[in-house]
Amino acid sequence: MTPPNKIPFPQFDIQDVNRLIQHRRSVFTRGYSDQPVDRADVEQILANAHWAPTHGRTEPWHFVVISGSAREAFGKAHAKMYKRHTPEADFKEAKYQKLARRPTECSHLIAVCMKRGNNPRIPVLEETNSVACAVQNMYLTTLALGLVGYWTTGGMTYHPAMKAHFGLGEEDQFMGFFMLAKPKDSEFYPKGLRKEGWEEKVEWWE
Ligand SMILES: Cc1cc2nc3c(=O)[nH]c(=O)nc-3n(C[C@H](O)[C@H](O)[C@H](O)COP(=O)(O)O)c2cc1C
Repeated sequence: MTPPNKIPFPQFDIQDVNRLIQHRRSVFTRGYSDQPVDRADVEQILANAHWAPTHGRTEPWHFVVISGSAREAFGKAHAKMYKRHTPEADFKEAKYQKLARRPTECSHLIAVCMKRGNNPRIPVLEETNSVACAVQNMYLTTLALGLVGYWTTGGMTYHPAMKAHFGLGEEDQFMGFFMLAKPKDSEFYPKGLRKEGWEEKVEWWE
């Protein structure tokens, strides 16, 4: 008999899990097809994001999914934001154009927000960490669905105007964008690169 609130211990193929995690890559816009990603796949990605760990069950993630003609509109708004908040001497026309164009280069642009829960005992850092875990779930699901994408914090990501654009409060954080697309080349995929082996990052205190 399975006790209430329990399920039989789930089993996985560790080889598959290793492959999924170790082949998760950031794939940039030059690797994107212009075919739209199916809505059901986007929903699957967001459903898995929702299973990120969360201290105090605050579930602080919030996503705004930008697709279709909203991509162009958001690109324009982002570029305008850059112009409005950049001193003339620093303004670069090429960057302005790139910000306007970028969202149209993917199928779905998913704005990643952290909405601070109402539990003051949970530090902001932990709320942000929880949303980062949600993004990792998005990355992994993207690959498992045969799609590509990456997390970007470019442009005006950390400017208060971006927070305001998404209606975020003072304690909330705007955390960037997950760009999602179908791959242009479904035969080849980027090789992963790490500067050193995982062993170099680990101390064993025994
Ligand atoms: C918080 C965060 C922000 C990132 N922002 C950008 C970005 O603005 N531009 C970019 O090219 N890549 C960005 N990346 C993706 C990294 O470039 C990428 O993760 C790194 O090159 C390692 O490659 P991999 O993800 O394929 O393992 C970001 C990654 C993280 C975790």
